[in-house]
Amino acid sequence: MLPVEITPGIFWIGVNDRITNLFEGLWDISREGISYNSYLIRDEKNAVVDLNKAILTGEYITRLQSLIDLKEIDYVVINHMEPDHTGVLQMLLTAAPQVQLVGTKKTQTMLKDFYGITENVLVVKEGDTINLGRHTMRFINTPFLHWPETMMTLEETESILFSCDAFGSYGTLNGTIFDDPSVNLDWYVDQALRYYTNIIAIFSRPVRGALTKLADVPVKIIAPSHGLIWRANPGRMVDLYDRWCKLATEPADPGITLLFATMYGNTEAMMEVVAQGIVDEGVKLKIFNIQKDHVSYILPSLYTTRGVMIGAPTYEGMLFPTMEAVLNMAESKHIFNKKASIFGSYAWAGGADRKFVELAEKLKWELLDSLTFNGTPSHEELLRGRQFGAEFARKIKE
Ligand SMILES: Cc1cc2nc3c(=O)[nH]c(=O)nc-3n(C[C@H](O)[C@H](O)[C@H](O)COP(=O)(O)O)c2cc1C
Ligand SMILES: [Fe+2]
Ligand SMILES: [Fe+2]
Repeated sequence: MLPVEITPGIFWIGVNDRITNLFEGLWDISREGISYNSYLIRDEKNAVVDLNKAILTGEYITRLQSLIDLKEIDYVVINHMEPDHTGVLQMLLTAAPQVQLVGTKKTQTMLKDFYGITENVLVVKEGDTINLGRHTMRFINTPFLHWPETMMTLEETESILFSCDAFGSYGTLNGTIFDDPSVNLDWYVDQALRYYTNIIAIFSRPVRGALTKLADVPVKIIAPSHGLIWRANPGRMVDLYDRWCKLATEPADPGITLLFATMYGNTEAMMEVVAQGIVDEGVKLKIFNIQKDHVSYILPSLYTTRGVMIGAPTYEGMLFPTMEAVLNMAESKHIFNKKASIFGSYAWAGGADRKFVELAEKLKWELLDSLTFNGTPSHEELLRGRQFGAEFARKIKE
């Protein structure tokens, strides 16, 4: 894309990444892509806020150069050290050795650890400001959003909050960088929730702290480091973050996420009737075939629904291994406090349900009834499965 002037003298100079399949090597963005948003403030002094991953660096540098001679950049603000925002740093410094790097004390250490950089680092504290002329940058500590060193930068004249990963989303910017009515806002909100559950959810407590701090900050535009720039309705993202961080400790909506895996279709046959029973009770249901659906899509559903129904056969005395992997990921992302049940097929001694009891304990999930059956479910067992789904749904509605 061409640079976009957000307000007089402040430009988006980011990059759309349509190449990477797995963000952080883990999270599926093969269809959605992602943007690395970088910003240039042109004034008596010039600052770049957040950079770019070490990908499409030629495109990034060319875009920056189309607006400014690299030798005229005074500051590069490093809100966050993760290499999706700093990968291009060494290349930039080769062309612009005069630049002062601005970051927190922890950023200073990480600059040395990641890039061997020890010179020209300006450490800023909470509330410090740098005046650029007409524009002033104020720094707000927001540790663990998403790393311990992370801060946000507020441009005070235009009230633009450069929030880095917070309020960001997966998804490339497609023709516009703004939350214009012409873009599919619901899609970006879904991508922001996916980003939140995959990357931020475990830091929901620091998110809450940051939101409290930001409540006193006048913000007209939220400019994160990934995804849309929220200027039409910045409050929408703040409200969503308020809701999402509370879901770490409060009950979610009364819906059910059903995850299933099957080798030969027996557990799947039961899944179909359990689903019928759930919907009989009018409870919202989302079904994931964990053998096809990437965990990055499963986590947002688990996070935002109160009930979890697991369908998995026994495998070598254990829960089906890829199901265990999904549940381990849910645990590592702190997706706690659910009501859960399990059903599945076995052929001799079973064991999936016993293994699930152990996992549910680690997940702090309250276990309701389970339903296991031998081999292919009989007609009677299928009728029982529908009842089993309905009973679970009723408990979720309570
Ligand atoms: C590799 C493999 C390992 C299995 N291990 C066990 C086991 O330890 N205990 C058991 O009761 N059944 C075991 N089974 C049997 C399956 O649980 C059974 O065939 C079940 O019906 C499969 O359900 P599905 O059609 O939903 O995959 C195993 C099956 C396979 C293929
Ligand atoms: Fe990050
Ligand atoms: Fe990031």
